[in-house]
Amino acid sequence: MNPFPSLPLSTPRLTIRLLAEPDRTALFAIFSHPEVMRYWSSPPWTDLARAEKMIRNTREGYEAGDYLQLGLERTADHALMGTCTLFEINRQCRRAEIGYALGRPYWGQGYMHEALQRWVQYAFEELNLNRLEADIDPRNAASAKTLQRLGFQKEGYMRERWIVGDEVSDTEFYGLLRHDWRQQFPK
Ligand SMILES: CC(C)(COP(=O)(O)OP(=O)(O)OC[C@H]1O[C@@H](n2cnc3c(N)ncnc32)[C@H](O)[C@@H]1OP(=O)(O)O)[C@@H](O)C(=O)NCCC(=O)NCCS
Repeated sequence: MNPFPSLPLSTPRLTIRLLAEPDRTALFAIFSHPEVMRYWSSPPWTDLARAEKMIRNTREGYEAGDYLQLGLERTADHALMGTCTLFEINRQCRRAEIGYALGRPYWGQGYMHEALQRWVQYAFEELNLNRLEADIDPRNAASAKTLQRLGFQKEGYMRERWIVGDEVSDTEFYGLLRHDWRQQFPK
């Protein structure tokens, strides 16, 4: 059985699809931008080979059924604007962690909210998960707002959990349960 059925996903403005070789320059533009990477778990990319590695990793994760990272393509002009990810997938406990990034030119236009609404629905309904988690830098106000708008609740705080370059940072941990989400966004 395909562990990640029903792809690609669509929303009014987006096609959420597997990454492929032609996406490498767009991916590099996203993940080399210092503002996009300000609170990321690794420094900004400096080498196009990182994009090729990401595409390879996403293919392998998709085939193994243990990691799903999809591209957010603006349907109107096919621009690859960002990605969203499901990782640390635990089938027994029916939970996973989510991650997301949007290229700097695309911020502030509601694209990530639109994508994540569908992403969360996909995780709960098509993949039958019960719980989603997110680990963010407490200073990342835009990301916290993005999660709160989807109904994620702040569940914990972990000190000095990350060291990126030589910067040490804390984690704010968020969680969303399927039944809470279903109450907030009824069918
Ligand atoms: C997180 C991210 C996807 C949000 O996308 P976006 O298009 O900028 O989102 P929005 O502009 O809709 O902002 C979301 C909310 O945060 C608010 N916000 C944005 N920047 C903010 C800031 N610097 N301080 C406080 N609030 C901010 C917005 O007003 C909006 O609130 P609203 O829904 O009440 O209007 C985007 O900023 C991004 O890709 N960042 C880099 C990658 C990243 O940090 N990913 C998360 C790692 S876990």
